[in-house]
Amino acid sequence: MLSRAPKGTSDILPSQIDYWYYAENIIKEVLQSYGYREIRTPAFEHTELFVRGIGETSDIVNKEMFTFQDRKGRSLTLRPEGTAPVVRAYLEHNLSRENPLSKLFYLGNMFRCEKPQAGRYRQFNQFGLEAIGSPSALVDTEIILASWAIYQKLGLTNLSLMINSVGCRECRPEYLEALKDYFHDKKKLLCPDCRERYDKNPLRILDCKNKQCQIEIKNSPSIFDYLCKDCDRHFQQLRKYLDSLQIAYQVNPLLVRGLDYYTKTAFEIISGELGAQNAVGGGGRYDYLVEELGGKHTPAVGFAAGMERMISTMEKQEIKIPFWEGIKVFVATVAQEDISAALKIINHIRENGVSAEMDFLDKSLKAQMRLANKLDVSHTVIVGQEELKEQKVILKNMADGQQEKVAISQILRYLQPKKKG
Ligand code: HAM
Repeated sequence: MLSRAPKGTSDILPSQIDYWYYAENIIKEVLQSYGYREIRTPAFEHTELFVRGIGETSDIVNKEMFTFQDRKGRSLTLRPEGTAPVVRAYLEHNLSRENPLSKLFYLGNMFRCEKPQAGRYRQFNQFGLEAIGSPSALVDTEIILASWAIYQKLGLTNLSLMINSVGCRECRPEYLEALKDYFHDKKKLLCPDCRERYDKNPLRILDCKNKQCQIEIKNSPSIFDYLCKDCDRHFQQLRKYLDSLQIAYQVNPLLVRGLDYYTKTAFEIISGELGAQNAVGGGGRYDYLVEELGGKHTPAVGFAAGMERMISTMEKQEIKIPFWEGIKVFVATVAQEDISAALKIINHIRENGVSAEMDFLDKSLKAQMRLANKLDVSHTVIVGQEELKEQKVILKNMADGQQEKVAISQILRYLQPKKKG
């Protein structure tokens, strides 16, 4: 089907693009005010980066990567997420040399071969931010705060913040054992995915959406009974900072996230407008990822959000945004021989920052005027031989239909809004 985009992908049409510009501008503005600088990494990376980074037991690596071989047989993968690539770039360019805490953000396409449904696509856009280099819960707080500030500035409501701790290398193994003990006799009752998770990564059973699994999960051991002192202190500190900022949150011990690199803090921002795929964004701490990818021990934390889900929430909540104002001026020609002069005039208008359009389909003057009406321009400049002899054109004010002869050198005075004061 050559006239259909591949399954799970979509076009962003001119009628929707203003939402994207608006959201992207706010994201950049807010993140730069928090001291984050943009980084742009490639759309594909060596497959091994994601296998090592996201984890072999994750759904992403197991089932969802778009992986292909280049002509020399090296395995490459379209990026399913931005954190591992950012850490790769951080190491490759030795960014810690510039600053012990690297604060980076990104906007871009991600690719996951998931079963498409509302809010879940195979090519989607994320914005994300990563702070690499500090173990402090203050940075977790800042990441949450910056993400929250973006949603607030966009005017989104009906959002909630869920936080959890998933422990660390010290305390998680004991918790995983406790989960295995607990689910051992219940294994038969779990869905096939969870039975597999039982062996590979029992933590992931906790966020299974299957109804029967949820019944079994209800009385499972809580991570909070297993956190080591350091993880517990970190989590209490995060809560203290959020409380002091009066940021409302819910502690959800079942929030475990789908990527294996998380340690300590895990969090998600949920929208009440989105149905099943209700996470507008998620993130957490990943203290071992830098060393997993070949660097020295460097604690880090980050967040990423789905732009499509965010924009669909904006549309549902009818958030007012500044739409493109359309073309301001139409330059019409009386006859073929006026086109060169018209080209010069339209260039002059556009160079001065006023949007202008002309006819490209050899239309009669009458048809050009109809087009100008349809474009809803404020003025039409009519270029004709007679007026050109005096270096003039006819300027028609489309609001009141008034026409007057105007010197070409003076056109802009009529087209630009009068400066105040
Ligand atoms: P993630 O939870 O996999 O985390 O994705 C973050 C957000 O991307 C989700 O909450 C959702 O809004 C959006 N998203 C994910 N998959 C899809 C999809 N198939 N279609 C549409 N939207 C989707 C990460 O990607 C981590 N890298 C976040 C992070 C950054 N953790 C630390 N730093």
